[in-house]
Amino acid sequence: MATYSYGGCIEQAYKVNWKIKDVLGKVDFDLNRPWLPADLSGSGDIFCLNPEEKQKLTHVEMGAYVHLVGFLETFIAPLMVDLALDSDGSDSQAFEALANFASEEVKHMHLFREVGRRIDARLGFPLQRADGQNEVAQAVLSRSKGAVLLLTAAIEWFTQQHYVSSMNPSDGLDPLTREVFRCHWMEEAQHARLDHLEGLRLFKDMTVLERGEAVEDFVWLLATLDGLLERQSLLDGLNLERHLGRTFTDRERTEILDSLLKAKRHCFIESGLSHPNFLELYLSVTTASQQARVLGAVRLLLQRQPFHWTPPTEPSPRGREHYL
Ligand SMILES: [Fe+2]
Ligand SMILES: [Fe+2]
Repeated sequence: MATYSYGGCIEQAYKVNWKIKDVLGKVDFDLNRPWLPADLSGSGDIFCLNPEEKQKLTHVEMGAYVHLVGFLETFIAPLMVDLALDSDGSDSQAFEALANFASEEVKHMHLFREVGRRIDARLGFPLQRADGQNEVAQAVLSRSKGAVLLLTAAIEWFTQQHYVSSMNPSDGLDPLTREVFRCHWMEEAQHARLDHLEGLRLFKDMTVLERGEAVEDFVWLLATLDGLLERQSLLDGLNLERHLGRTFTDRERTEILDSLLKAKRHCFIESGLSHPNFLELYLSVTTASQQARVLGAVRLLLQRQPFHWTPPTEPSPRGREHYL
């Protein structure tokens, strides 16, 4: 059973705290290497791309990965400000740990925007990225705080797993990608533990009705996240066409989109929900029937096919928007 503490988290946070210039100051992205490890990329399942094109796909996917993590942090930062204020000064360590958590998340968002600019410069064109993060964050934050915290815990535990199990051991991985996510991993370790502590605190004070609402909102949040992943997968396909300098056939588009969405669902939904540390929190705050409800909804969600990806006959920025 987890034995985290607010005091332990803030002490460790101060030990590992880094500056953006230290993360980005050493090297640039290397176009001759993969930018995402194989098990976080959809490239392995795609037959219509050759090895060189698959490596280029990881460049596009890493740009999307960075953007999506920053997109999700847009609601995590204000959630933590809210929770810090909730602590009402009665527990100074909790206030300090949560306020620092919010501040680190704002720093991460800034880092990921800067990483995005470097990616665009290295690729030689601006990647298309899913927009609307402020609107999505407002919609997310209007839902049950317990539900938002559960989603946040799943996200922060998967960032741990992706670095430790995939990025760090990946020999050929681009060094700057590894460094960005090594630094992110060090600070996220405290965030995930604080999510656990705050999750237990929030659910303890909920009525049965409020817990039921939190579970329904959690399902809604997962569906919203899946919609975002689908939007970005479509854009990744268009970004890849530009990076490769060729246009795909309808059959190739379908294959690529299916693989991209499958990989994103694995990264952003399945690897968080199945993380043992997330499950320790989730199983302790929900009933067996609530868990069955979520499981059924997630299974349906993951089976859903993406919209057909058919660009207009004369591509234009406005025309492309129509398909998103
Ligand atoms: Fe973060
Ligand atoms: Fe975080």
